[in-house]
Formats: sequence, C-alpha cells, structure tokens
Amino acid sequence: MKKRWWKETVVYQIYPRSFCDSNGDGIGDLRGIIRKLDYLEQLGVDVVWLSPVYKSPNDDNGYDISDYQDIMAEFGTLADWEELLAEMHRRGLKLLMDLVVNHTSDEHPWFIEARKSKDNRYRDYYIWRPGQDGREPNNWESFFGGSAWQYDEATGEYYLHLFSRKQPDLNWENPKVREEIYAMMHWWLKKGIDGFRMDVINMLSKVPGLPDAPVTAAGPYQFPGQYICNGPRLLEFLQEMKRKVLSKYDIFTVGETPLATTEHAVDITHEETGHLNMLFQFEHMDLDSGHASGKWALKPLDLLDLKRVMSRWQKDLQGKGWNSLYLSNHDQPRAVSRFGDDGRYRIESAKMLATFLHLLQGTPYVYQGEEIGMTNVEFDSIADYRDIETINMYRAYVEEKGVDPKTVMAMVHAKSRDNARTPMQWNAGDHAGFTSGTPWIKVNPNYTAINVERALADPNSIFRYYQKLIQLRKDNPVIVYGKYHLLLDAHEEVYAFTRTLPDDRLLVILNFTRDTPVFALPTHVSFSGKELLISNYLVDPDEDIRLLTLRPFEARVYRLR
Ligand code: NOJ
Repeated sequence: MKKRWWKETVVYQIYPRSFCDSNGDGIGDLRGIIRKLDYLEQLGVDVVWLSPVYKSPNDDNGYDISDYQDIMAEFGTLADWEELLAEMHRRGLKLLMDLVVNHTSDEHPWFIEARKSKDNRYRDYYIWRPGQDGREPNNWESFFGGSAWQYDEATGEYYLHLFSRKQPDLNWENPKVREEIYAMMHWWLKKGIDGFRMDVINMLSKVPGLPDAPVTAAGPYQFPGQYICNGPRLLEFLQEMKRKVLSKYDIFTVGETPLATTEHAVDITHEETGHLNMLFQFEHMDLDSGHASGKWALKPLDLLDLKRVMSRWQKDLQGKGWNSLYLSNHDQPRAVSRFGDDGRYRIESAKMLATFLHLLQGTPYVYQGEEIGMTNVEFDSIADYRDIETINMYRAYVEEKGVDPKTVMAMVHAKSRDNARTPMQWNAGDHAGFTSGTPWIKVNPNYTAINVERALADPNSIFRYYQKLIQLRKDNPVIVYGKYHLLLDAHEEVYAFTRTLPDDRLLVILNFTRDTPVFALPTHVSFSGKELLISNYLVDPDEDIRLLTLRPFEARVYRLR
C-alpha cells in the first residue's frame, strides 16, 4: 500500500452556520471560524472541510449555490475567506472546500438564463423535459420528497431536481457545463486550497432516457437510486476531471457517493487508475433504516450487520483503494445518540465509538461537536426545526399520510439532520457561547453540561481522548496502514479486530453495549507481550486479556508482541 499524506491525516468538518458567530447575527461565520483555529490546532486535526460557504439563498443551507466564486453574505466576504485560509496555513492546517456541482441554486445566473426560453444558450446546462400526458416526465421522487421534476410556466417544460426544487440538476452531458466547472475548480485551487469534498459526486451521470423507477413504495413517486447513482458516464466524467484539473495539484479529494458498493469504490479510488482519493460510502449509515430508501423507517442497529459491512469495506479496499471513516456529519444524527448511549454512558460510549472510528484503516473524519460528545436534540415542536428535508417529511407524513404527529416527532428526534446542526457548544454561557444574538436554530439545552470549556478543563474528557487518538495515529503507522482482520465475527456484543504490519500488530476490543459481555481472545492470536495504548476505563496493566469481562461500552487497544 502506497504512503500518501492524505492517508495519514485526520479531518475535521465544520458546518459554518452552526460553528461560531462573530458578529451577533445568530449565524456562524468565517471570522468565527478564525477565532477557533487554535482550538482545532489543539485537537490535533490536520485538515478542515468546510461545508459550503458560497453565495446561496439557503434553501438547503448552502448546498444550493447561486455563485460558485463568491462567499455567502452571512458568512463574510472573500477577504475574510482569504484570511481564514492564510490563518489555517500558518498553523499547518489544510482546507477542503465543498464542491457542489450536481446542481446549482435556481437563483444561479445560468438557471435564470436557462429558464427564459428553450433556445437560450444556457438552456442545455440543465435537464429539461416535456411532460407526459399532463404529468411529470417520469415517476422519480426527489430526496426531499415529492416529484423530482418542477414544471416551469415560462417554457412549458419540467426541469429535474434530485433535491429541492430550488436545486436544479446540472446537465453533465453538456461539455460546456463541465468546462465551466473545471475552470471554477482551478480558480479555487489557484487560491491555494488543499482539496475538495465532492457533494453527491456519483449522481453526475443519469441513465439515458431517464426511465421510470420501479415501484417499491406507495404513492406516485419512486426512489430513482439505480438511475441516478453510479451512472454510465460517471467514470468518464471523473477521469476527465482528473485529467483536466485534479492531476495538476497535490490535493485531497473525497467524493460523497450514496449507493456506492466496494466495487465502485475500488474503481473510483484505485491507487493507480482511480480518480479520487476516497469516498463517503453509506452502507453503515443505512443499517438502522427499515428499507433501502427509507431513513425514517427506524430499526435498531444489529452489531453483526455493522461488522459485516465495515469488514467488507476494509477488506475489499485493502491494497487497492482507500476508505474514509465517519460516524457523523451534517446529514446524520449524532453518533453517540445513535450508536452509543447519550444518557448514563455518554462519555464511555462516545470514547468507544471514537476508538472504533480512529482504529480502522482509512482517513477519519470528526464532525464538529463529536469531540465533546454532543448529542441529538429533542425539540417539542416541528416549528423549531429548520432543515428542509425534516420539514418536508413531517408535512408529508402528518398531512398526506395521516400519521400521528407524535410518531413523526419520534422519527425526527432519531434521524433529523438538525440533530447535527444545533450550534456548537462552546461554554455554559448564553446560547452556549455560539452567538451574542439569537441563534438561527435553538441550542441543545444540554449545553450547560456538555461544552468545550468543560471538556478542556477535564483531563478525562471525550475531547482529551480524541486528542490522544489523533496523536496515536501520528505515532503508529500501523493505525494508518495496517491490514484489518476481524475477530469473533459472530459475537453479538463485542467488535474486535487486529491491525497488522509486518513488524507491528494492534488488538482492538470494543463493547458496543450497556452489558458486561465476555471477550475470549481466539487461540490463533498468539503473543508474548502486550502494551495498552488507550482505553476508556482504568485498566490493570497485568490483566490477562485472553479472557475478559468487559464493562459497558468498554474500549481497549493493545499492541501485541
Ligand atoms: C449531500 C449534502 O451533504 C446534503 O447536506 C445536501 O442536502 C445534498 N447533498 C444536496 O446537495
């Protein structure tokens, strides 16, 4: 496996709207981020991924861009951004910008032109179709509910929008679109950024003919996954992007790829022939959903499923491609609430999950607040939620499907993206120290107990544990490059694995439950000495690890000799 700097880093994701507000308007901003760079440096991360900061009407909080080459007014100016980049580089931090090029905002000048007439020179920048028998061109459902097509009065045709109707899909079949995007990418790269996180990058190529999706759910609109993800020209587009842009710089690239399999991942991230460094796969994020397309259909996580999925990704990419490792981001509920215990064992389970995340093979991503164990939020009223996906879902379930609002609120509490978007909890002061004004979304009421100031003052905090894990990765190449091998594959409560290089070997033991299961080391794992590298409970250094009774959410990492 080749050594690469981006394999050896830890990434921190900032959702700028909710990170730190410097001017009291209740919205996080770039100058707020600058204020907190020392904090990131202290944590030890190497790379920062900024969710979109471009000009946007904010229908989907910046994932609807109206100018790719300017900064959203609420976040600051291009000059602030330049200062942020310089301040980051001064500290040795690298910056990843979010590249959102499957769609633009409907307020982007290209779309404003395109919708004017069928022969406008920008018409073919987007995907237009006539209706079919007075209805939409096909039965595709948008990710945010309803049809993926919007009728446009001016020209009497529909345009495709896989996300909100204010996010029309770009037509990547049109070479002019691709050239515009590549020029824009060069513009940012020449400013000195260190790479891109690429939004839904495997949706660029749609299946020709845009056929109806198979009927898998009640109602008129169906999940079009197989016709929009990993489409026939995807690799060609990525190859071209690599040839014309990416290959000219030594940068970090990660593609967000719903429905990607490990085969797709090997194609896209292959060490010799791939196009991007790594992907965000979704298989482990779908394990607590009732069926393929329904994240709102709640289902408890089965640890055996998690082992099966993660082990397959570890194994299939070994020596070929590269994994991204994440348990949370701005689209997912908080990991400690979802996979751990955000009550009695919040601290233990957050540390256990962190151990899991950081000890797999791949590049770990920490989402803002994860490092202090921030939890899901339970607002009583839908009026307190801001996320378009959540609000649309609530309406559809309550108003159209007639589901009891209490049941729907339980779904919101478990899965809403706003769980991850409440303001960063800096201290126990007003609005958690996030803003001096009124925050755009309410702060999680637990901020008086869970906040950065407290975490920094406590040598045993989750933050201190993340710091240690990040440092361990820097000191131990086996954490980055070692081969993964699952142990005890049928154990329902304990997830254990080894990581091996020719001259080094680690043993990772994780209890995913509140119980006290027994861990018995398989006899084929022989060793003559051991050294404890990290654990989330006090451990007797002489304890015999061949047979252990684990404490709730216990995590241990040993070096075996
Ligand atoms: C994925 C992003 O992470 C999400 O926040 C956004 O809503 C969609 N892509 C559309 O851009």
